[in-house]
Amino acid sequence: MILVVGANGMLGRDLIALLGDRGHGIDIDDIDITSPESVMTVIGELKPEVVVNCAAYTDVDGCESNTETAMAVNGEGVAYLAMACRDIGALLVQISTDYIFDGGKGTPYGEDDAPCPLSVYGESKLAGEMNASFSPEHLVVRTQWLYGLHGKNFVETMLRLGAEKDELTVVDDQIGSPTWTVDLARSIIALIDNGCRGVYHSANSEYCSWNGFAQAIFEEAGLNVTVKPMTTSELNRPARRPLYSTLECSKLAADTGFRPQAWRTALREYLKLRASNSY
Ligand SMILES: NC(=O)c1ccc[n+]([C@@H]2O[C@H](COP(=O)([O-])OP(=O)(O)OC[C@H]3O[C@@H](n4cnc5c(N)ncnc54)[C@H](OP(=O)(O)O)[C@@H]3O)[C@@H](O)[C@H]2O)c1
Repeated sequence: MILVVGANGMLGRDLIALLGDRGHGIDIDDIDITSPESVMTVIGELKPEVVVNCAAYTDVDGCESNTETAMAVNGEGVAYLAMACRDIGALLVQISTDYIFDGGKGTPYGEDDAPCPLSVYGESKLAGEMNASFSPEHLVVRTQWLYGLHGKNFVETMLRLGAEKDELTVVDDQIGSPTWTVDLARSIIALIDNGCRGVYHSANSEYCSWNGFAQAIFEEAGLNVTVKPMTTSELNRPARRPLYSTLECSKLAADTGFRPQAWRTALREYLKLRASNSY
């Protein structure tokens, strides 16, 4: 059985749907990953072969003022899961982020590039990556710029704002690859099924700025909205973000045969699914 922790989250829900009978989902009502007792009891009772940890404190700006919570959930919680996995010989799959990088490299980041987080969120997720190795069987999957049907995300925010306004200002100096949670979930399953271990990058292919992404969302959704540019420093958010943090995903393709589709194609598929109301 593949146990998905954080199964009510944006990624968790798509992963559970794709896993079908192989999956079992739990979330904060069943397990608190910040409590070693809760983790040991639940994992010890369920005895899964694989634990995929999608649970996290994902409010990037909130992490700046809630360092203890960020470290407890994103860092220490992973250590407890890893120790519980070690005790039963299970594989731990930990989901991580491009925010462990500083974005200064100028070309896509490979799995072996040195991390250098700029934010508390990035630091806490890096701690989680390191703690995952308490389980001899572990897999770290780094991703970025997620959107999906079951959580707050940039696409949903743009569609809401685009219905109210005919002009928006969006940052154009952060570059990354928007990634659909369904494609990420597909890659996680491919990594598990191919017996992969260690660190992998998984994101939809090709890249854009948030500004370019917003323009694509409005074009694909048939909304007539002018998207003006602004800089990250003008936006002045509490947490620093990497400016160029695209992820090199060729190791995923080489080891599993799975190649995530281009972000724009994925966006089109997502909007079609969303419009069909089949969720
Ligand atoms: N979203 C992105 O753009 C992005 C980008 C890169 C990487 N990631 C990573 O991808 C993974 C999935 O992200 P997501 O956006 O799907 O997350 P999400 O929607 O925020 O879901 C996280 C889930 O974890 C639960 N949770 C929080 N604290 C917990 C605890 N102490 N014990 C058990 N469950 C707890 C949350 O419950 P509550 O809602 O009740 O708190 C929520 O159901 C995370 O590891 C995240 O760091 C996300």
